[in-house]
Amino acid sequence: MDKGIGTIYHKLTNLFHSNPSTSASTNTISSTPEMSGSLPISTFFDRLIPSSTTQTKILHNPNRYHNTSRVTRQISIKTEQNSVSSQPTSFDTQNTTALNILEQSIAAEVHSKDEPPNHASNSLQYRHETTSSIPGMDDAEFRRRGKEMIDYIADYLLHISDRRVTPEVEPGYLRPLLPKNAPKQSEKWEDIMSDVERAIMPGITHWQHPRFHAYFPAGNSYPSILGEMLSAGLGIVGFSWAASPACTELETIMLDWIGRMIALPVAFLPFDPKCDHKKNDNDDVSLSGSDDDDDDDDDESSDDHLRDSISNGDNNHERKQSRHIGGGVLLGSASECILVAMLAARTKKITSKRLADPLIEDGQILAKLVCYTSKLAHSCVEKAGLIAMVRVRDLPVDENFSLRGETLDEWIRADKENGLIPFLVSGTLGTTSCCSYDNLEEIGEICQREDLWFHVDGAYAGSALICEEYRYIMKGLQFADSFNTNPNKWLLMNFDCSCFWVRDKFALINAMSVDPLYLQHKHAQQAVDYRHWGVALSRRFRALKLWFTIRSYGIEGLRFYIREHCRLAKVFELLIRTDIRFEIIGNVTLGLVCFRLTGSNKLNQALLLSLNDSGLIHMVPSMVNDLYIIRFAVCAKHATDDDMRIAFHIIQEHADSVIIEYRAQRSRRQSSSADSIESTAKQTSTTNVEQNPCVLEEITNPNILPEIPTARNVYPKTKIRANTITTMTPHHRVTFEKPISNSLKDKRPRPMFVRMVSDAKLHYPKRTASQLSRQTSLVTPRGRKRIQSDSGNHASRSSSERYLARTVSILETVNSDEGELDDNKQ
Ligand SMILES: Cc1ncc(COP(=O)(O)O)c(C=O)c1O
Repeated sequence: MDKGIGTIYHKLTNLFHSNPSTSASTNTISSTPEMSGSLPISTFFDRLIPSSTTQTKILHNPNRYHNTSRVTRQISIKTEQNSVSSQPTSFDTQNTTALNILEQSIAAEVHSKDEPPNHASNSLQYRHETTSSIPGMDDAEFRRRGKEMIDYIADYLLHISDRRVTPEVEPGYLRPLLPKNAPKQSEKWEDIMSDVERAIMPGITHWQHPRFHAYFPAGNSYPSILGEMLSAGLGIVGFSWAASPACTELETIMLDWIGRMIALPVAFLPFDPKCDHKKNDNDDVSLSGSDDDDDDDDDESSDDHLRDSISNGDNNHERKQSRHIGGGVLLGSASECILVAMLAARTKKITSKRLADPLIEDGQILAKLVCYTSKLAHSCVEKAGLIAMVRVRDLPVDENFSLRGETLDEWIRADKENGLIPFLVSGTLGTTSCCSYDNLEEIGEICQREDLWFHVDGAYAGSALICEEYRYIMKGLQFADSFNTNPNKWLLMNFDCSCFWVRDKFALINAMSVDPLYLQHKHAQQAVDYRHWGVALSRRFRALKLWFTIRSYGIEGLRFYIREHCRLAKVFELLIRTDIRFEIIGNVTLGLVCFRLTGSNKLNQALLLSLNDSGLIHMVPSMVNDLYIIRFAVCAKHATDDDMRIAFHIIQEHADSVIIEYRAQRSRRQSSSADSIESTAKQTSTTNVEQNPCVLEEITNPNILPEIPTARNVYPKTKIRANTITTMTPHHRVTFEKPISNSLKDKRPRPMFVRMVSDAKLHYPKRTASQLSRQTSLVTPRGRKRIQSDSGNHASRSSSERYLARTVSILETVNSDEGELDDNKQ
């Protein structure tokens, strides 16, 4: 008899039934966790015991309580100790039931020693018993509802253009539409689905709508949806090879496929192509396995390409590496990829510095690390810096919105002179703001010289690399240490799916590895364990959707999709250029067009507000080199030329009314303040449009427009607000006064650490004293007043006020010359 186990069991049982209201029900064993407050003993122990043991025991248990040998042993110990009798009376019924189970389980255990189990029949019995006791959906209903759901999704996507693009709801709209508490009892599926239309759909932004042109595309395709479905159905968690070998292995193969599809430098590929070539010169790039002639041709050309890259064809400057140690992993987002790259780079630099000077502490090195990126890099670089506790410098870009080597060089030199330690450059291949490209070649050479980790973020543009004609943008990628792209943006994969490749997987694993006993397995030396390649332990089977989608479309199908989007962006660009009131900002290289009304930022802001408020179209703005621009991304999977024309027509209509409204407001303002001195002062701060007679001229003479289809969609006439349902106003609200939310005064003071890592003086070392002294203070004047009036009354202040006051005083001394907050971050 093992007393210890008996005591543990006793405690667990008490824990389990500690709620008298639920433990009073006698039949909790056969009911389910969802329905009763207490878990059945069997279920509870099933969670503690390895499934293999569980299965063996289930097989020979003639009754419905499928316990395990370990459970049985524990319970028998408890029985011998007579601990049951010491339980409070209210538990007796249940414990008696438990005793019955015990007896049956013991019998089953004895029986099981004599006969080999019949796995098939018994596991069926097990499955049947389990499902019959769980309320909710059974197999038959799942089959039916699953088909209905597929129909619902297909109908939704087919008729999506009948809806507004953006919802007309306000924060908090959903709470009044749903019950306060979760339902006690199982509800009918029909009721749940009818609530989808009633409550959920009104709050959905329709990213797959043909008039959705915001951000970047949100990948979506039927094969990918089905891949996701299978992944959910399998319900596995693939943190290590052993946790589900196919999950890991398919992921590695997908990273290899995509790496080859986008012609990544071979050093990044998970499998060493040189070895593949030695083994079999012909089959390594064949994705379809088909024998058809066309495929063979294509394979040959890909093969040639691959051979070229291996023998330095398009990677002339391929960095010399003695062995192939590259690899790739699927992560949840580009932000995660960049964070992981930063952590790896940080560990690498700290380790090398510590080796050079064993007396120096990690913290001392950390405090000096600097990462460089461009002003137009995605804000996730700054966020990664916050998490990794390193400085991030946003460097200025040139007239093509590109970070250049010269700028980087200058800043690195200045930082090194100040005793700082550069460790990482995060370049961007296709910025979010305007799809510009950093000069990877210039940056890469500097990174090599300075021994800096070079990460390249190709979250959007990376997908275009499957087409040979766009590969010119990747020039210099051979210098990179890591690269990420998001097939969930522009390769028809549903979210989430970010590919991340590294040249040296050990640099990554060194930074991320922890290895508790319960996660180790006997194949660890030969297999990939992706838990060491990212932040999360548990991992989804993301590779399935890649596999389904790539195979369903084929590389050519995906190329067609990318090329269509790029062509349509050109169509839209031409339309915009036909109207001289507009200008195109930057180059249209892929599927993003950045444009603006030739006028002030406010005018453009008003135009975008008007467009988005209409619900007819959705776009988002961006700020590049102090210009407020409107981003038009080709997003819809099946976008057409007509979609471009309709979008352009909507934009023109709104531009007309915004300009009229703008002029009316301006003349009202001028007439009401014509005589006052204040008005003179105001006029000095008028917008570019007012100062620029050319622009006014352009705006007042709308030019001849190309023919546009006038067919309009009819949208639902109601909108849901927080507590009311109101009729949708036909007029588009135009507000010129709405502040740009990125402006400094709208930002809350950033925590001390954030300020510390982005110190203005270090940020803008070239700024003159007078420029710096003109910088706006961190805290709004109102906030400052409140804090000052509170000073001396510390006891009455809340902790947040005290924190604020402390922050203000520190920052006022350290940072009276605060640098401006970056308006470019998205
Ligand atoms: C260039 C770039 N990098 C990073 C990101 C962040 O992507 P994620 O949402 O996957 O973190 C984006 C998002 O649009 C992006 O465009």
